[in-house]
Amino acid sequence: MLGGGGKMSDWKDIPMELLLRIVSLVDDRTVIIASGVCTGWRDAICLGLTRLSLSWCQNSMNNLVLSLSPKFTKLQTLVLRQNIPQLEDYAVETIANCCHDLLDLDLSKSLKLSDRSLYALAHGCPYLTKLNFSGCSALSDASLAYLTGFCRNLKNLNLCGCVRAASDRALQAIAYNCSQLQSLNLGWCEDVSDAGVMSLAFGCPDIRALDLCGCVLITDDSVIALANRCLHLRSLGLYYCQNITDKAMYSLAHSRVKGKHDMWESVESRYDEEGLVNLNISQCTALTPPAVQALCDSFPALHTCPGRHSLIISGCLSLTSVHCACAIQAHRMVSTFPHPAL
Ligand SMILES: *[C@@H]1O[C@H](CO)[C@@H](O)[C@H](O)[C@H]1NC(C)=O
Ligand SMILES: *[C@@H]1O[C@H](CO)[C@@H](O)[C@H](O)[C@H]1NC(C)=O
Ligand SMILES: *[C@@H]1O[C@H](CO)[C@@H](O)[C@H](O)[C@H]1NC(C)=O
Ligand SMILES: *[C@@H]1O[C@H](CO)[C@@H](O)[C@H](O)[C@H]1NC(C)=O
Repeated sequence: MLGGGGKMSDWKDIPMELLLRIVSLVDDRTVIIASGVCTGWRDAICLGLTRLSLSWCQNSMNNLVLSLSPKFTKLQTLVLRQNIPQLEDYAVETIANCCHDLLDLDLSKSLKLSDRSLYALAHGCPYLTKLNFSGCSALSDASLAYLTGFCRNLKNLNLCGCVRAASDRALQAIAYNCSQLQSLNLGWCEDVSDAGVMSLAFGCPDIRALDLCGCVLITDDSVIALANRCLHLRSLGLYYCQNITDKAMYSLAHSRVKGKHDMWESVESRYDEEGLVNLNISQCTALTPPAVQALCDSFPALHTCPGRHSLIISGCLSLTSVHCACAIQAHRMVSTFPHPAL
């Protein structure tokens, strides 16, 4: 359509909508190259581009971020996940200075980032709803608590392995400032205790997915608070939480009844009917079969069907007598339902 003697005499005459359509189909490297072709393209791409991933970049991510952030100021999604840690604070500071519209930022495995990055994001990117700090082990709880006071729209937060950042104090700040939170990963944050989880349960009643795997200090009190307060909870990871007992399982099973009452009152529907959809209690060695069975009986969606494993009890030898298999009859639960992302 460009050839054939049309009116378009040059590449730069491609209509902007067409250019943005093309850009949306090609990979990020090509977008970057295209944005340097000529002024017309640059302006179009820079103003139109809302999503960019630089994860493919093996060793020059800092330089690329420095040169691209001032151009791509309308970015809403930026993926800077790394295999080998390379991203540094000055690059994140540049992002925070240029890209004020960011909603979704993936900084996972940025082991070199310090609190400077969080302070910069707090001031530069107030609309963030999704933040992935998985593996950012150098961040502190003071800077995380500070960030929560500015980024109050956070819905999804991944703090897996952020042992220093995920203190009870930081969780209290999240609970206090980010009441819309829906998904939180606290995997292997071994300083998290009941005080932190209980404040989350009270401050963030909309939590749908919570991963507490390896949070070895938590006890039944955490789970009971979640069962009582977070009636939208769909996915719970308790892997290796060995102080969890049957009491926690019964409180979850009982929350089902509460959830149902809630459902009758609201118009909000099918999604609420499902209850717990994923539960990982692998290595929770204190649990006994009757309690886990009660849970399975309460939540049909937990049943293990071919191709779907919703209740994870591997490593709990005592639980082999739990029957949580797929019902034979075609059940509504086989239909697709939203899978909360962690
Ligand atoms: C966050 O980063 C981790 C590690 O790179 C990844 O496994 C996970 O899928 C990412 N996304 C979310 C929503 O947590
Ligand atoms: C965020 O939460 C903490 C409580 O942990 C509070 O001291 C701080 O004032 C809050 N920030 C804002 C802006 O509300
Ligand atoms: C259960 O949780 C642990 C910790 O997150 C994870 O390593 C394991 O893969 C999970 N099990 C399944 C089957 O998803
Ligand atoms: C967890 O269980 C162990 C062993 O039963 C016990 O010694 C420890 O005090 C418990 N931790 C908490 C936080 O309750």
